[in-house]
Amino acid sequence: MYYSEDIVEEVRSRNDIVDVISGYIGLKKKGASYFGLCPFHNEKSPSFSVSREKQMYYCFGCGAGGNVFTFVMEYENFTFPETLKILADRAGMELPEVELSESEKKEADYKAVLREMNRQAANYFYLLLHSERGKSAYEYLTNRGITKEMIKKFGLGYADIYSNDLYQYLKSKGYTDAQLKDSGLVNIDEKRGGSDKFWNRVMFPILDTNSKVIGFGGRVMGDGNPKYLNSKETAVFDKSRNLFGLNLARTSRKSYFIVCEGYMDVITMHQAGFTNTVASLGTAFTPQHGNLLKRYVKEVILAYDSDEAGTKAALRAIPILKESGLSVRILNLKPYKDPDEFIKELGSEQLEERIGQAVSSFMFEISVLEGQYNQNDPESWTLFTHELAKKLATISERLERQNYLDACARTYQLNKRDLEELVNRYGMTASQYQKEARDKERERRVEKDNKDDGYRQSQRLLLTWMVNEPRLFERLEGIIGVDDFIEPSYHSVAAMLFEQYEKEKKVMPAKILNQFTEVEEHNQVASIFNTMLKMAPSEEDNEKALTDVVKRVKEYRINYEMEHSNDIILWQKLIRDKAELQKLHISLHFS
Ligand code: CTP
Ligand code: MN
Repeated sequence: MYYSEDIVEEVRSRNDIVDVISGYIGLKKKGASYFGLCPFHNEKSPSFSVSREKQMYYCFGCGAGGNVFTFVMEYENFTFPETLKILADRAGMELPEVELSESEKKEADYKAVLREMNRQAANYFYLLLHSERGKSAYEYLTNRGITKEMIKKFGLGYADIYSNDLYQYLKSKGYTDAQLKDSGLVNIDEKRGGSDKFWNRVMFPILDTNSKVIGFGGRVMGDGNPKYLNSKETAVFDKSRNLFGLNLARTSRKSYFIVCEGYMDVITMHQAGFTNTVASLGTAFTPQHGNLLKRYVKEVILAYDSDEAGTKAALRAIPILKESGLSVRILNLKPYKDPDEFIKELGSEQLEERIGQAVSSFMFEISVLEGQYNQNDPESWTLFTHELAKKLATISERLERQNYLDACARTYQLNKRDLEELVNRYGMTASQYQKEARDKERERRVEKDNKDDGYRQSQRLLLTWMVNEPRLFERLEGIIGVDDFIEPSYHSVAAMLFEQYEKEKKVMPAKILNQFTEVEEHNQVASIFNTMLKMAPSEEDNEKALTDVVKRVKEYRINYEMEHSNDIILWQKLIRDKAELQKLHISLHFS
């Protein structure tokens, strides 16, 4: 999406920076500038200044600064097009329609329909929850301690006991069966007609980062199976790219996100003031999730269930998150099952304390490992110590490794010297081995490529020599033939040249070009013919250069044949040929 500079400039000039920023934070006039508390770092006295004259902001505390676009992008975590749109709307400007191709337009329209249907459904569920029919659902939520405010904030709803009333409702809004089917909200049966996917469930709308409804999770009230039912994936609902609560957490202005497992956890967390909480949608964590989070924060705190399943899920999520460049800490919720239960039992202050105590993913992994061994059994404990040392040895950065070594020695009451010695013994770890093997393989490939390049270049150079000095065709007879040009593109050119020379005793490059139809081929062949050979001043040097080229071409041919044959007799001949090559000398003296 591209807009002209003129439009961008118009949007900017129509949004006074002081007015816009005042909508986000309090500003006080001081001299020529306005000052407030910087939203981009923690501070107690205002060092964030905004200048109406310059239409710029700058924080003397953290160095954040820019124009009105920068501010909105940074504050809202919007992309540039999103920012432009918001600020254009704010100024009452209409942005010109973006030019889309026919198929792009169709796709966009189709997605817009799906989102609109989901929005209508969310509205419907929300209204039901607040109606007489939704009384039990409303009670269910309030009994679980969810406030009215949260019900509103998350747009919670209720799908009632009738099996097709959402279907009827959406039909009445003009949607076709085909559209309804694609929404994933209803099932369409040829004979029985449409029926709702969700019934008698509390509904959790799932919003994308632009706060558009794209799907739902629905919970049974009380016990029942399945506990949660989720929208199927659609063109607008990709579970691996969306996170529950991200549309809200996005603007929490925290340096980290808390990731938990469930819908209820997210809602309770937000209610308790942890507005930087999200959850994956009943699926495993994906690299796309990791990258999505990385757009907003540098650190993630995992608040997964404290049971075995939760621990396993955390162990799987850690490498994915780290791969996205996030640092990861793990929250210990024990003895409670999940954040929801923890907050109910101990409250938000205690949770805050636990967040402060959250351990790094490394220490967490070690503690899980430790759980498999017995400190009171010397044999078992020795095994643990070895495993720990192996893991420590995988930390490539020396200082980091040392710090973790100290921490582990402290935590598990191990002798630091002994542990250190063990770590050094495992110094060459599996991952380092792998890395080294990869590096070696890469080096080998590069070397081989260079070598190949060298041979390719020699073949090309030799052709250039022969085109420039056709008498070489005779001089090289018995030494160089068409098949010495192994490189396919040079091989065909060589075949044509040899044929021409045999027939006409001369070469006609332009004619050869006629044989090729592709522009690239023309370029390539033309470059063979049009290369200027750098001639040395002395014939002796030129002969040496040519001889070297011929030797290289021959050598490659011999190696090539050796690689492609097991014939011992042929091998013996090739080895002899190779030795003979050393004596080769090509004279450039023609009488
Ligand atoms: N989940 C799901 N389908 C299920 C069970 C769980 O999609 N049959 C997903 C939901 O996103 C759910 C999350 O996994 O929120 C965590 O599951 P669970 O811990 O069982 O539910 P809670 O969120 O803790 O919900 P509650 O407190 O209501 O039991
Ligand atoms: Mn749970």
